[in-house]
Amino acid sequence: CGRTETDDSGGVQPALVATLVFLFCLEACLWVRNLRLKRRLPGPFAWPVVGNAMQLGQMPHITFSRLAKKYGNVYQIRLGGNDIVVLNGDKAIREALIEHSTEFAGRPDFVSFQAVSGGNSMTFSSYSKQWKMHRKIAQSTLRAFSSANSQTKRAFEGHVVAEATELVGIFHSLSAEGRYFNPGHALTVAAANVICALCFGKRYGHEDEEFKTLLGRVEKFGETVGAGSLVDVMPWLRSFPNPVRTIFLDFLDLNRQYFDFIQSKVVADRETDAIIGVIEAEGNTGLTEAHTDSTVSDLIGAGLDTISTALHWNCLLLAKYPDIQTRLQETIDREVGRDRLPTMEDRSALAYLDAFTYETMRYISYVPVTIPHSTTSDVTVDGLLILKDTVVFVNQSSVNHDPLTWKDPHVFDPSRFLDEDGRLDKDLTNNVMIFSAGKRRCIGDQIAKVELFLFLAILIHQCHFEKNPSQDLHLNYTYGLTLKPLDYKISAKLRGEPLIGT
Ligand code: HEM
Repeated sequence: CGRTETDDSGGVQPALVATLVFLFCLEACLWVRNLRLKRRLPGPFAWPVVGNAMQLGQMPHITFSRLAKKYGNVYQIRLGGNDIVVLNGDKAIREALIEHSTEFAGRPDFVSFQAVSGGNSMTFSSYSKQWKMHRKIAQSTLRAFSSANSQTKRAFEGHVVAEATELVGIFHSLSAEGRYFNPGHALTVAAANVICALCFGKRYGHEDEEFKTLLGRVEKFGETVGAGSLVDVMPWLRSFPNPVRTIFLDFLDLNRQYFDFIQSKVVADRETDAIIGVIEAEGNTGLTEAHTDSTVSDLIGAGLDTISTALHWNCLLLAKYPDIQTRLQETIDREVGRDRLPTMEDRSALAYLDAFTYETMRYISYVPVTIPHSTTSDVTVDGLLILKDTVVFVNQSSVNHDPLTWKDPHVFDPSRFLDEDGRLDKDLTNNVMIFSAGKRRCIGDQIAKVELFLFLAILIHQCHFEKNPSQDLHLNYTYGLTLKPLDYKISAKLRGEPLIGT
């Protein structure tokens, strides 16, 4: 049987080898020519057809940082047929995204990006006049929820408190009779409920099956749009059955299902709701109703996965570092007391909690690389010319572990963010990069910080997190647009009688 196979492929193999040799020579000639023309940035040798795809490994952001040590902070890799520039380190990234903000504000015209939010996504569309208008409207919508003392801001905080107190109850029942549980799913539903309450004025609850199925799939979204995903850079992989094609088809299906869900809710709620009201009141902007739907879809998508991932890591780190958890509990008990829940007004007295949030962002860097950018014109960074329409990966995690900025970058220590008086050191927190920078900087950063503060303050005030003594807590994860902790289990014991928010 083995012989027959050899005989059958006898004619094919020489042709395959000849093709590969030809492609290899072609690539080598192009490489030498580009080197002569000084068009090629520094970077590893790229193989024919696949380029450097096989070298990225399971954790592309770590590979990017490793390559930066060899080739410098601005270098080029090739994925499939695309030359891609990778930016690393605080200095080069800020030079690119802040000093040359317009040149780096584009998005690549990836097929997967066109599948998001019915093809009208602001997040995934490139730099244009219409994108600017779309982003401005989305921003002014969100501002209503974070600007001082507005009614919408209070309502938003109320939603977070309600979800956080419900989570306390859920965690309590999941820990009953000494059980250990994975908090991932409950956190996703809680984060989704906050953003849905914001967009539609109502939550869907932990028991709504349609909602739960959808959320289970949304987690997969980042696999395709994260830097280093192969479906867009090797389009030929979509033409025959293979795992990359399966992921891509799932992605298309997930986006369709998700957008249909959003549209059905937006249509149902068009007259009444907060965000939808703000967008449509702007009028005459050149944006259609389809853009309202896609704005809602963008905000829910962006605000859901990121927040739940952050909380997921926070719970894991609380259980892994009991001393840090104890210091957080003592701080909260001292400043807030045991007979009411923490509120936003307590924030300035709870600097150590903010320090914990920033240290999680820095240390884990759970959005390790931004959504891919592209250049809108030729531009020079760190003395190197990058041509127009080049795909750019921004390695945020390299900023957060840059030894020039951070002492002992590989140690988890929230107190690094406190000054001698115990106050939050704003100069240091500004050095953390997780919301990106420049024209594509996250527009939900303020909302995210409020939401994370309230969720965490309430969870830590009410619960004590513990690891299973028979199982060590590791920090392994799966890579995508967000890093997701791999399965782990904890328990959350109540610290007293549960309190309800007012
Ligand atoms: C911890 C929470 C969050 C993190 C770490 C985060 C991080 C990011 C990052 C890295 C980007 C891509 C920037 C780039 O491509 O350079 C982004 C974009 C974006 N984020 Fe966030 N985000 C968070 C929460 C939120 C929330 C709560 C919302 C809204 C409710 C939001 C809305 C957006 C939008 C609309 C964009 C697209 C901006 C554009 O392309 O112009 N994000 N975010």
